[in-house]
Amino acid sequence: METGRVSTPGAMSINATSFFLLWTCVFFGKCANGNWNSSSYYDIERRDPCLPEHVHISFGKTVLDIVIMWSTLGDCCGQVKYGMHPWGMEQITKSTDIHFDEKNSKGLHHLHKAELKNLQAGSTYYYIPISKGVQSGPFYFKTPMAETDWSHDFLMFGDLGIDSDTVPSLVNEALSGKYTALFHVGDIAYDMKNQDGQVGDYFMSIIEPAAAAIPYLTCPGNHEIDDDTFTHYRHRFATPDTEWPIPLDKMWYSIDIGPVHFVSYSTEVFFTNFAMYVNDQREWLIRDLDKANKNRHNVPWVIVFGHRPLYCSTHIGDDCSQPDSQVRKGFEEMFYRMSVDIVVQGHEHNYERLWPVYQNNVTEYTYNNPSAPVQLISGAAGSAEDVDHFPSEKRPDWSAFRLDNRAMNSYGRMLVINESHVFWEQRSIYNHSTLDSIWIIKDKHLSSRNGMGQKPDEMSEEAKDLLGQTCRKSFLACHPFEILVISGSMLVLIIASLAIRVVVRKKRKENFTKTWSRLSDEVDEDQDVFEDEESLVHS
Ligand SMILES: [Fe+2]
Repeated sequence: METGRVSTPGAMSINATSFFLLWTCVFFGKCANGNWNSSSYYDIERRDPCLPEHVHISFGKTVLDIVIMWSTLGDCCGQVKYGMHPWGMEQITKSTDIHFDEKNSKGLHHLHKAELKNLQAGSTYYYIPISKGVQSGPFYFKTPMAETDWSHDFLMFGDLGIDSDTVPSLVNEALSGKYTALFHVGDIAYDMKNQDGQVGDYFMSIIEPAAAAIPYLTCPGNHEIDDDTFTHYRHRFATPDTEWPIPLDKMWYSIDIGPVHFVSYSTEVFFTNFAMYVNDQREWLIRDLDKANKNRHNVPWVIVFGHRPLYCSTHIGDDCSQPDSQVRKGFEEMFYRMSVDIVVQGHEHNYERLWPVYQNNVTEYTYNNPSAPVQLISGAAGSAEDVDHFPSEKRPDWSAFRLDNRAMNSYGRMLVINESHVFWEQRSIYNHSTLDSIWIIKDKHLSSRNGMGQKPDEMSEEAKDLLGQTCRKSFLACHPFEILVISGSMLVLIIASLAIRVVVRKKRKENFTKTWSRLSDEVDEDQDVFEDEESLVHS
């Protein structure tokens, strides 16, 4: 569908970057067609152990801090050379290097991360990752424009495996020069830990042409759980303004990109054995959304993304189709009350667009100033599993549009035009056709309940109320260690008091016996004296 979008300064650089791409393609023999031969890829013996592979980038604390990551077979310390001219990469920054072998016995064991800070906005940078003198690339990326009223395009999809036909299309899209970031909404590679880490390596190699050129932002899905360790996810990716490897209690983050405050959250907190992360994340989300709401005059849109949907009309037993869905209970009220604009999700291997909905009721059958978040499910990029079919019966009221078979090998494009208009489309790789598209229009992003007019450092009443509910609703999940310590202490006190009672009783019994025996002796003595005296009287 023709969007009528005007050409942008980003589009002006396409010819230059295309020429550069062609040059690197011919010169280095590394073309962006995603066509890797897995058998030769696994033949790692012939590689230089220090060759940087799996190059991908993300944002640091802001969009002007770019994080570069890569892997090597050997233990080779790294650095990145970079600059604003392909023949003038004079700046150098060293990398942080870690050893990674957990559930990765056959994968590349050495991971590297370097951060290029305080870059110039709206500029193309060229870079070369180097490990112990061995380099790959050169690669390039373009930093976003500084102004928040700049239009941004984003690629968004969930559930992408190594065998998907969608990868070459995504690479071509990424290299068009139009996009600011690539969002992978969980379920990566299927699974990165498989084949002892080789599936993760292979996926990172096929996504490299796209992910080395535009920031690749992620959230964890169920295929990243890795027996509650999330080990491949936490090591292979770096997320904005977060330590690396990503800590288990910080697999959520946010970043402002132009007119959008993006929030990545983990739906997997409900499906692991670490219940305390449910409320850790909840508290962080409430505070983050409240802070973002205070900044809506600068960054008007709030768009969140997490793997498992709040609702879905497939009936395959997934959480989203259950009346008591944990994910819905965990996020729906918060997203509604904090005025989140759009929720992007995956997990269901199909495509579904919802009318604005809250507590199973459609708030309005339009995307023109919706009063509840607009929910999209785009999980059809190409999983290793089957299509999730929709049942033939009438779909629920809140399901506005859905496709199963026809949606296979498709992905989402989000065009944030300005502070009031977003264009969303789901595109198939077949004939580059548009399967679905909508305009989301918001003249006003906040309702009066979100603390309009409050001081910037003051928390809104909504946020205070939601935070207050956090522990009242699930104190056990919120404070499991405290509960354990209190229970343990009470048990120790009970045992101690019982022991003291036993000792005191024993002591009392001993004293009583002693006293009784002493009194008996005294009575016996008195009796003897009495009998003696009586015998004397009688005599
Ligand atoms: Fe999933």
